[in-house]
Amino acid sequence: MINRLANKWVLITGASSGFGAAAACAFGAEKSKLLLGARRVDRLEQVAAASRKAGAPAAHVQSLDVTKTSSVEDFVKWVRGHADKVDVLINNAGGALGLDPVATGKDEDWETMFQSNVLGVLRMTRAALPLMVNNPGSYILNIGSVAGHVAYEGGAAYCGAKAAELQITRALRLELNGTGVRVGTIDPGMAETEFSVVRFKGDTARAKKVYEGVEPLTAEDLAEILVWVASRPPHVCVDELLVKCTDQAAIHKVHRRKVN
Ligand SMILES: NC(=O)c1ccc[n+]([C@@H]2O[C@H](COP(=O)([O-])OP(=O)(O)OC[C@H]3O[C@@H](n4cnc5c(N)ncnc54)[C@H](OP(=O)(O)O)[C@@H]3O)[C@@H](O)[C@H]2O)c1
Repeated sequence: MINRLANKWVLITGASSGFGAAAACAFGAEKSKLLLGARRVDRLEQVAAASRKAGAPAAHVQSLDVTKTSSVEDFVKWVRGHADKVDVLINNAGGALGLDPVATGKDEDWETMFQSNVLGVLRMTRAALPLMVNNPGSYILNIGSVAGHVAYEGGAAYCGAKAAELQITRALRLELNGTGVRVGTIDPGMAETEFSVVRFKGDTARAKKVYEGVEPLTAEDLAEILVWVASRPPHVCVDELLVKCTDQAAIHKVHRRKVN
């Protein structure tokens, strides 16, 4: 089997936990070189160490807050200090905050969700594009959500943000047509990461309930899919991939086993 990811530069935002951290290890195992960003640098250091152990020939970490243009620009300046191109950009940083209906929604939650999930993707892509446009076969992979396809109560802002991410992905693919840069979105359903703990602002009991009686996706499931997508030959672009656990037939249709 050809390893198309060996020695490729893979930039992952939100690499300090969940999908991003698991992806770092999975790409590391394919011998990719890693550029990892998030706000919690101590956690990034641990992920980089695990990725090196998995096989990454290089794993560099740097503080990144995708809600701030200056942080994104500084991050990409730092990237240029290590790499003269980016082969895979995984725009993963983001998440949900709260589950309030619009009637009682909070400005700060809405603003944070749009800043990270929507503007963060735009900012990081704009900043990284000069390192990708002359690199046919490179891949921009955005992490969307089933929430970008189907709305649910209490999810207005998050669903809106992920729907925006989907349309950004589609527009970008049109804009980059002819450059050889691939653009795709991987849209997961429920996966047990720190996602719900963040959404419920540290209420771990409430977060645990989300997955009660269900066998959800894991971060490693997503990482495996990201590696598979990124390792297709350069003429193959996986545009959009919806991935749910078998127990989740639809957003409102989740099979739950009895828990004692
Ligand atoms: N888990 C699910 O059920 C699910 C389903 C569909 C889609 N998603 C999406 O998948 C992506 C990853 O989520 P996850 O499930 O892996 O959750 P997670 O474990 O909470 O990971 C989220 C990551 O994003 C980073 N992040 C958040 N805000 C950031 C910011 N402003 N700047 C830089 N990094 C930031 C966090 O790092 P720091 O806090 O260290 O900055 C963390 O590394 C998100 O876009 C989420 O919306 C998750």
